[in-house]
Order: sequence, then structure tokens, then C-alpha cells
Amino acid sequence: MDSNNNVVKRTVMVVSNGGEAGHLVVSEITSPTLPASSHAMPANDFFVGRKGVTPDGCGVTAQGEEEVCSEAFRDAMRDLAGGVTVVTVGKGDDITGFTATAVNSLSANPPRVIVCISKGSSSFTPLDSNRSFAVNIIGSGDQAIADQFAGKGGLKGAQRYGDAEWTTMYSGTPILSASLAALDCEVDEVIERYDHAIVIGRVRAIRIFSRQTPLVYWQGGYQQLVSSPELIGGLRNCSGPKAVQYP
Ligand SMILES: Cc1cc2nc3c(=O)[nH]c(=O)nc-3n(C[C@H](O)[C@H](O)[C@H](O)COP(=O)(O)O)c2cc1C
Repeated sequence: MDSNNNVVKRTVMVVSNGGEAGHLVVSEITSPTLPASSHAMPANDFFVGRKGVTPDGCGVTAQGEEEVCSEAFRDAMRDLAGGVTVVTVGKGDDITGFTATAVNSLSANPPRVIVCISKGSSSFTPLDSNRSFAVNIIGSGDQAIADQFAGKGGLKGAQRYGDAEWTTMYSGTPILSASLAALDCEVDEVIERYDHAIVIGRVRAIRIFSRQTPLVYWQGGYQQLVSSPELIGGLRNCSGPKAVQYP
């Protein structure tokens, strides 16, 4: 912190279990200049329960119900580092998709994933009607693709696919050839909650080509995960997709 309590530099050590079982890899994410917090609050302040309601009404919903202040909630969630994915939707020329960090494993047995999508997203209706989608895990060298699928520059639908190389697996949904791993899914269930929907995907095919570190989103920006030379060397030796499974 500087004398104004601004964060000027922050280093986080990330410990992950990479490579062989039991072999710990210590990596580092550095962010020389963190963007200023979106919600001005004193350093080391914290909110619990309803203490986030401020005199200006922050923390009160349109219906007048008290909630913790959504700006404080967003600030807290900025600390949660997320792996960056591109969720592809559609087939043939009728394709679209979006960049997503709200993606997670729901269950390994059976293999199910969840994706949280804004109901305002242009991908929501196509995803719901196609009943299929693919999760593409993005590598650190493919930030441009993440930008395209976030709609940067006003790109829409098929324009987001640019000149990257794409393939297909089980459902015909495009799979990014450069993705670290890709999951081709059928929609199992769409649960609408608030302004988002939780989509449960039944994984029908898997492609793994993890030859570089993942792209990470943290504190409102893309970060590079700097891993041990040992792990990077191992990934670079991977000459092609490690596994393609069709159930
Ligand atoms: C790093 C990052 C992560 C995002 N994660 C999600 C997400 O998990 N769910 C979601 O609906 N939108 C997410 N978005 C926003 C979408 O990528 C996209 O910008 C938004 O759906 C608007 O798309 P549209 O122009 O197709 O309507 C994310 C954007 C970025 C840059």
C-alpha cells in the first residue's frame, strides 16, 4: 500500500498440484498495477451480512429489500481467480458464443459441468434452443480469442470465430483446436435464476491438448500464470491432443 492506501503492487503465490500426483508446482501471478477498486472503501474494511447497506442506498434492491451491497460483492469476487473459457454454441454458419469464467465441474461421475450465462447474452437463446454447447479452456497465448468472444470491438455471432482453427466432435458444435481442453456437451438442464441461468451440461466428448499454461482472469484483468520450467517443458513436449473420447 502507498500512503493513500492504494494497492500499488501485489504478488500472489499460487500452489497447484500440476503434473504427477503429489508433485507440487509453485507458480506466481504478478500484477504490477492493479486497477482501482470500483467501490471506494477503506483498506482492510469488510462487510458481513447487511452491513453493506450504505446511506446512498447501495445494498437495497429495486424491490426495497436489503441485500449486501452488490459493489462490495463484485469487489470480493474480483479476488477469485478464474480460468478463462470460450463457450461455443450452434452449428454450421449459425454459430455464436461467449467468454466465460463462471464454468465449473458439477460432477465427475457422471461427467457434468455447469455454465452460468446472463439471460441478456446473445448466446442464451441459441444455447437453450440448440440443446448443446462446448466449453473450450483457453491458453495463455489466446487472449485475443477471449476478447473476440467477449464481443470486443462489437463482434457478433460467427464474427467472433475469426481466423482461428476449429474442429468438431460429437455434437457438431465448434471446438477450438488450440484449446487446452474442450468438453462437447448436451444441455441437461437450464435453471433460470435472477438475471442469469445455470446450464448443466452432459459431457459427450472430451479433447485434451494441454501444452501451455491457462489464461487466468483476476482483479478485472487477464493474468499470466508463470509456472515452473519443469512443468512448462513437460507441456511443450506434448505434440498433439492427448485424448479424444467419444462415449
Ligand atoms: C473474463 C470474462 C469472463 C466472463 N464470464 C462470463 C460468464 O461466466 N457468463 C456470462 O454470461 N458472461 C460472461 N462474460 C461476458 C460475456 O463474455 C459477453 O461479453 C456477454 O455475454 C455479452 O455478450 P453478447 O454481446 O453476446 O450479448 C465474461 C466476460 C469476460 C471478459
